[in-house]
Amino acid sequence: MDDKLNVYHTPVLLKETIDLLFTKADGIYIDGTIGGGGHSEALLAKLSSGGKIFGFDKDPEAIEHCKEKFKNELEKGENSRIELFNECFSKACSITRHRGEWTGFLLDLGVSSRQLDESRRGFSYRAAGPLDLRFSPHGRTAEDLVNAVDEEELAALLRKFGEEPFAKKIARRIVQQRKIAPIRTTIDLARIVESVVPRRSLASSLSRVSQALRIAINDELNVLHNALHSALQCLGNRSRIVVISYHSLEDRIVKNFFRQFSKGEEASSSMPKIKILTKKPLVPSEDEVKNNPRSRSAKLRAGEVVF
Ligand SMILES: C[S@@+](CC[C@H](N)C(=O)[O-])C[C@H]1O[C@@H](n2cnc3c(N)ncnc32)[C@H](O)[C@@H]1O
Repeated sequence: MDDKLNVYHTPVLLKETIDLLFTKADGIYIDGTIGGGGHSEALLAKLSSGGKIFGFDKDPEAIEHCKEKFKNELEKGENSRIELFNECFSKACSITRHRGEWTGFLLDLGVSSRQLDESRRGFSYRAAGPLDLRFSPHGRTAEDLVNAVDEEELAALLRKFGEEPFAKKIARRIVQQRKIAPIRTTIDLARIVESVVPRRSLASSLSRVSQALRIAINDELNVLHNALHSALQCLGNRSRIVVISYHSLEDRIVKNFFRQFSKGEEASSSMPKIKILTKKPLVPSEDEVKNNPRSRSAKLRAGEVVF
């Protein structure tokens, strides 16, 4: 096996995450993005026999990986302290509500290293692969999107979700090009971007275009916004929310959500308040970035829910 594939994913800000998330050994914790299971593994080590982790991932391959990783625990059947769900984290509250109030809710957003390294998923613009970019094998792909939507919509999407300065030019060239032949691969798309952006901006533009398509395909911003709001119906008093995000659009949603509830704007008898535990977002240390360069854009925000 390729060496890179031996390590599924190195968890980011691991100690900081567990320190902020964990409050009770017999609590119920939701890992909404279980991925390679690194954060869950560290959390599990702190739980008593009465504790529970409900681990979610949209990617069936992540769930298969975690079935293997947590095999010994899962073999305990009803007494297993971990349960896995191949579902979107926005459904976590409706799926687990009848099991009791949550003690902690973790979201470590974005893509795992495994997903980036698997060129057939199309997540890395650096590797040749199909233009897929879906977390789950359902729904439309990035290929469907770039070959279908009109020029203006495409430009708007690249601007909104990628903050791409050459959005208009790239969208125009995509539409011209697909009249000649459909755009099928990461390389097809990279050539188009390369043909319109200045050389010095190429790497950043490629990264932003890929991000924009991924956000659009997976409806990532709406999903995050809805998941945070619906979690409030499941989180108990003094429970914790920890979110690690990797780009400013996600971070803004988390920041605004915490602010909105910390000021009590939404306060009513049924709505909780959020005490912000990270005045400024936590970021990885220089050492962590050196050892795991993919952690470099991470920002962690945490809050405590108070009724
Ligand atoms: C950065 S990785 C998480 C890594 C994990 N914390 C670990 O320690 O290995 C993000 C994971 O979130 C999953 N994901 C992204 N959006 C999701 C969603 N809406 N619902 C469920 N899982 C999602 C991805 O498939 C990916 O496996």
